[in-house]
Amino acid sequence: MRVLVIGSGAREHALLLALRDDPEVDALAIAPGNAGTAAVADQHQVDITSGDDVVALARQVAADLVVIGPEVPLVLGVADALRDAGIACFGPSKDAARIEGSKAFAKDVMAAAGVRTASSEIVDNPAHLDAALDRFGPTAGSQAWVVKDDRLAAGKGVVVTADRGVARAHAAALLEAGHPVLLESYLDGPEVSLFCVVDGTTVVPLLAAQDFKRVGDGDTGPNTGGMGAYAPLPWLPDDVYRDIVTTIVEPVAAELVQRGCPFTGLLYAGLAITGSGPAVIEFNCRFGDPETQSVLALLESPLGQLLYAAATGELAGFGELRWRDGAAVTVVLAAENYPGRPRVGDVIVGAEADGVLHAGTARRDDGAVVSSGGRVLSVVRTGADLDAARAAAYDTLGSIRLPGGHFRTDIGLAAAQGKVHA
Ligand code: AMP
Ligand code: GLY
Repeated sequence: MRVLVIGSGAREHALLLALRDDPEVDALAIAPGNAGTAAVADQHQVDITSGDDVVALARQVAADLVVIGPEVPLVLGVADALRDAGIACFGPSKDAARIEGSKAFAKDVMAAAGVRTASSEIVDNPAHLDAALDRFGPTAGSQAWVVKDDRLAAGKGVVVTADRGVARAHAAALLEAGHPVLLESYLDGPEVSLFCVVDGTTVVPLLAAQDFKRVGDGDTGPNTGGMGAYAPLPWLPDDVYRDIVTTIVEPVAAELVQRGCPFTGLLYAGLAITGSGPAVIEFNCRFGDPETQSVLALLESPLGQLLYAAATGELAGFGELRWRDGAAVTVVLAAENYPGRPRVGDVIVGAEADGVLHAGTARRDDGAVVSSGGRVLSVVRTGADLDAARAAAYDTLGSIRLPGGHFRTDIGLAAAQGKVHA
């Protein structure tokens, strides 16, 4: 099988490595990729937002399967273009991708499917902002305000704060920029990312993972695209894991079928395990980064065959997934000033070590690997348990040099210490 992966992050690098391990995969291509993915796959340039261009590239490389990593091409309908051209694609249609692309659609689907999620309100008129803020946050008996950009914002459009001034300033800035603001009730409890391979009503869950969104140790500082992740979750009881699949993901998949937009691809439930059970923070229509790096490091089943089965309507017959024992930890190395405007162009030393997955990297004409984005790379290592995986990941990270680079030192730490409770 010849597989083309679309995207350029550490998630795509991890997908390529897992696909390469599948004995049925005999050729790998990636577009646009980065300095790390070039060592694993034939690298091509493409406008990932153009269905026509991605179809042309898939034909050029004679792809049997196209795997679309990021949400933007999915929301724009690139998967539809591939399927219309008769090319198998792992990734939802434009209509099904609204589960991530439109918060209003996601809330409506969840309400119809009877799935618990935060209550919310959209504010698009600055004159209504103060009254709306009064209905949320500490003034309304909750711990914090949750203020979101109603458009796709790569995880960086969210502010969670108990300070009304901060909440108000973020909302006002979004409105000023012409973006509607979503206010949400605060969901209290440890977070879970559950990735499910879905085709229509068939749902195959992967290992549960947890990611770390804030930039600083101890969950301090602004939200980012994700600073690290670990899997599986030793503190998540099996019955809660099963409940998430049967009472949240399966009903949502069935509701999408019901609405005439069946989901084919990776349905990612981001949840909080609250005192009254799991509740959805958001759905995404693709693999999440950096959780993917940890989850795929433990997958034993052949990834290419799994994704091909979902893309061709054969998922129900695929059977149970097999996993390696132990734990996996991913730590992201970010550029100076990320999640603000990152400094780029710095030479990275040690980027070719085992377990290093590239994201914002490029190869300079002189052969040096340089930073080219905010999240520069991630290190993923496995171990017999979380402590061992953490030690291995931080050991590898210690051998990498990036001027101004920063990373969190506490990825998976609270769980390893038994301090996370569902
Ligand atoms: P999102 O981009 O919607 O995934 O939000 C980013 C992060 O903000 C989430 O991973 C949570 O840590 C936090 N967050 C978002 N919505 C809520 C909520 N309703 N309650 C508590 N935390 C939230
Ligand atoms: N792990 C967060 C995301 O991919 O959106």
